[in-house]
Amino acid sequence: TTRVLTGITTSGTPHLGNYAGAIRPSIQASQLPDVDAFYFMADYHALIKCDDPQRVARSRLEIAATWLAAGLDPEKVTFYRQSDIPEIPELCWMLNCVTGKGLMNRAHAYKAAVDQNTAKGAEPDDGVSMGLFSYPVLMAADILMFNAHKVPVGRDQIQHLEMARDIAQRFNHLYGQGSDFFVLPEVQIAEEVATLPGLDGRKMSKSYDNTIPLFEGGAKATRAAVMRIVTDSRQPGEPKDAEGSHLFTLYRAFATPEESAAFRQALEDGLGWGDAKNQLFERIEQELGAMRERYAELIADPARIEDILQAGAEKARRSATPLMQRLREAVGIRSLS
Ligand code: TYM
Repeated sequence: TTRVLTGITTSGTPHLGNYAGAIRPSIQASQLPDVDAFYFMADYHALIKCDDPQRVARSRLEIAATWLAAGLDPEKVTFYRQSDIPEIPELCWMLNCVTGKGLMNRAHAYKAAVDQNTAKGAEPDDGVSMGLFSYPVLMAADILMFNAHKVPVGRDQIQHLEMARDIAQRFNHLYGQGSDFFVLPEVQIAEEVATLPGLDGRKMSKSYDNTIPLFEGGAKATRAAVMRIVTDSRQPGEPKDAEGSHLFTLYRAFATPEESAAFRQALEDGLGWGDAKNQLFERIEQELGAMRERYAELIADPARIEDILQAGAEKARRSATPLMQRLREAVGIRSLS
C-alpha cells in the first residue's frame, strides 16, 4: 500500500493553482488501488502568515468544501485538520531538536524575507518569526507523522520535501538503531501543470493577489478573473506566441494534449486574445462546472464539514498515537513499556 499525503494552508481562498497543483492530483491519487490517502487543512501553518482568526476559520471551511466538491471521499481518505492532531506539534518539537539551523537558513521563504529586508536596508531578520523560520520542520512533522511515501504538491514545495527527507534521515540515524522510524517521502508533481501562472504571469499566489478563484463568487468571478489575464497587445489576425504566453500555460493545465495543440495552432494563426480567454474559461468550466453546485451545498453546511473533520481526526490519531508512543520511548522521555 502506498501512503499519499498532502495539505493546504488555511490562510486564503482556494485558487486554480491549488486545484491544478494539489487538489486534482490528490483526488486522482486517492482513487488508485492500494492507496491510503491522508489529506488535511494546515491551520497551524496558517498562523505563520495570518493573525486574523475569522479568515483562518473561513479559509478552512472553503478549502474543506473545495476538496469535497472536487470528489474527495471522506470514507476512503483520512481527511482532517492539522490542529486536531496534537501529536503533530509534539513530533515537530522532536524534529526541531535534530534539525540544523543551517538547513533552515537555506529555506526559500526565509531567504526571500531576508533578501527583501536587505534590499530595503533593514535588519535581515526584521519581521521574521520563528514560525516562518522553522516552517519546513512543521511540514516535515505533517509528512513523517503518517509515514507518507508520496506527496502531491506544486513545484514550490519541492525544497520542503527535500528538507523533510533530510530531517527524517537524521532522526533515523540518531535513534533508529538499524530499524528506521521514518519513510523518506517523495514529491509527486503534475508535469502538465508545473507552476500555474497567475493573471500577471508570475506564480499564481495569494501573496501576489493574481489568483483565479475556484468557486468563491461563482462562475462569474472565475470568468471576470480570466478576462483580466494580462496578454501582449497583438490584435486579432496577428500571429501570437503561444509558448511565451501564460494564457496558453493555463489552458494546457485544463486540456488534453490534442486540445492544447489545436489551441496553440489557433493562436499562431491569429486567434484574438478575447476569444482565447473565452475558450480558456469554457475549458475550465467544463471541469469545474459540475463541482460548483456541490460546493455551494457544502459551504452552506459547516456542521456537516465539522463532523467529517472530527471523524477524520479520530482516524488519523489511530496511527499517530502509537507511532508517537514509540518515538517517546526511542528518545528516552518515556520509559520503555
Ligand atoms: P499552499 O497552501 O501554499 O498551497 C497548497 C498546494 O497548492 C500548490 N500550489 C500550486 N501549484 C501549482 N501552481 C501554483 N501557482 C500553486 N500555488 C499553490 C502548492 O504547491 C501546494 O501543493 N506548506 C504547504 C502546505 C502544507 C503541506 C504539508 C503540503 C503543510 N504541510 C505537508 C504537503 C505536505 C503550503 O503552504 O501550500
